[in-house]
Amino acid sequence: MDRDDVTGSLLQDAATRASAYLRELRTRPVAPAPEAVKRLAALDRALPAEPSDPSAVLAELDALVSPATMAMAGPRFFGFVIGGALPVTVAANVLATAWDQNSARRDVTPGTAALEDVALRWVVEALGLPPGTAGGFVTGATVANLTALAAARHAALARAGWDVEARGLFGAPEIAVVVGAEAHPSVMKALAMLGLGRDRVVSVPVDGQGRMRPDALPRLSGPTIVCLQAGNVNTGGFDPFAELVPRAHEAGAWVHVDGAFGLWARAAPGRAALASGLEAADSWATDAHKWLNVPYDSGLALVRDGAPLRAAMGMTAAYLPVGTERDPADYTPELSRRARGVEVWAALRALGRTGLAELIERSCRHARRFAEGLAAAGYTVLNEVALNQGLVSFGEPERTRRVIAAIQADGTCWCGGTVWQGHTAMRISVCSWATTDEDVERSLEAMRRAAGAGERGPTRGA
Ligand SMILES: Cc1ncc(COP(=O)(O)O)c(C=O)c1O
Repeated sequence: MDRDDVTGSLLQDAATRASAYLRELRTRPVAPAPEAVKRLAALDRALPAEPSDPSAVLAELDALVSPATMAMAGPRFFGFVIGGALPVTVAANVLATAWDQNSARRDVTPGTAALEDVALRWVVEALGLPPGTAGGFVTGATVANLTALAAARHAALARAGWDVEARGLFGAPEIAVVVGAEAHPSVMKALAMLGLGRDRVVSVPVDGQGRMRPDALPRLSGPTIVCLQAGNVNTGGFDPFAELVPRAHEAGAWVHVDGAFGLWARAAPGRAALASGLEAADSWATDAHKWLNVPYDSGLALVRDGAPLRAAMGMTAAYLPVGTERDPADYTPELSRRARGVEVWAALRALGRTGLAELIERSCRHARRFAEGLAAAGYTVLNEVALNQGLVSFGEPERTRRVIAAIQADGTCWCGGTVWQGHTAMRISVCSWATTDEDVERSLEAMRRAAGAGERGPTRGA
């Protein structure tokens, strides 16, 4: 076989294996079997001294690792808010991997730069953000928070006459940072990486759904960044943007919104009101690898005014071409990177507005059904299930933990645990295009079975 034949047959082999894997996810247990995880020990061997046949390498990968994966791409994985990848995005990802474009500069990779332009415009439109919003395609919401907050840091200090990229933070005017007490840890990590500190923030108390309490917002003055949240990772709650954003703006603060998954509520007419008012903010972080259901790693840092984002992320060097149009690398921390816009484009091209709205709406309907089914069985739903998150207590903390372990071991579905405002709970996150009504009913049945097994009946309250 010549080199092209070898490549062709390897890709065919990969496609055959990948589709068999995805087909099997519908029926296999969601968590990997403990024996499969044990067999991973076979990976741990010395660096091979000689080359191997690539098809044998692929076969080994499939044989050893496929059975040891968590079925996150399947229809009944409800742990974390992460979703599965739409088939069109998996296929587009394969094609884009073959292109192997280093998508830093437009002059060099015009095709993927053009896809990013369109994908960015479509995302901004689908989320109802201000037309012309600038953005960078990053690895995920953690880096999207970092990127957008770097723009916020630039703008807050520029207004005080300080060029933070040139001079750093030593001797700079202080920036006050305000966060909700339930801000996602990725926001705190981003603040730490930016030299803004995770412990010096002003933490504003929240209500029982994790929403920032407007009556507890302190008086703001001087360079200030206010970090709000669209979609609490436990409850799905949204900060009251319509009240908070204007107040922050009156004080001259920059408002950033972490909307890793919650921002997508705006794409579904029936849910958009939950997130209303956030369009007036200055920056937003979101994930495409969550509710848009594209493969990892895919997040978006979105900033109303592109200038502070470019000031924070731009890079120049004599060997890098300078264009007059948008250069992707001017908007992201990375220089070399894969063409993340490809799958975002493919998802939106395939779903259209109505398909996206239906995906979001369906997940929310499924979360509601879980909550109703478990409440009817006598268990305590701890959150208002307005979005795609359910928080359930099966009784005493130890009992709830046991039920979660039993559900995971049963394999019909997979949910994780959390402690929400002192209550031990199971999290149910519905986020995948692949989940059907039947998957929800099967999973509900498995949850009731696990909760009922070995117990005389449900006990209430954690
Ligand atoms: C509200 C929120 N922000 C940020 C993140 C971090 O996202 P990523 O894991 O894509 O970096 C998450 C992840 O679940 C989240 O729920």
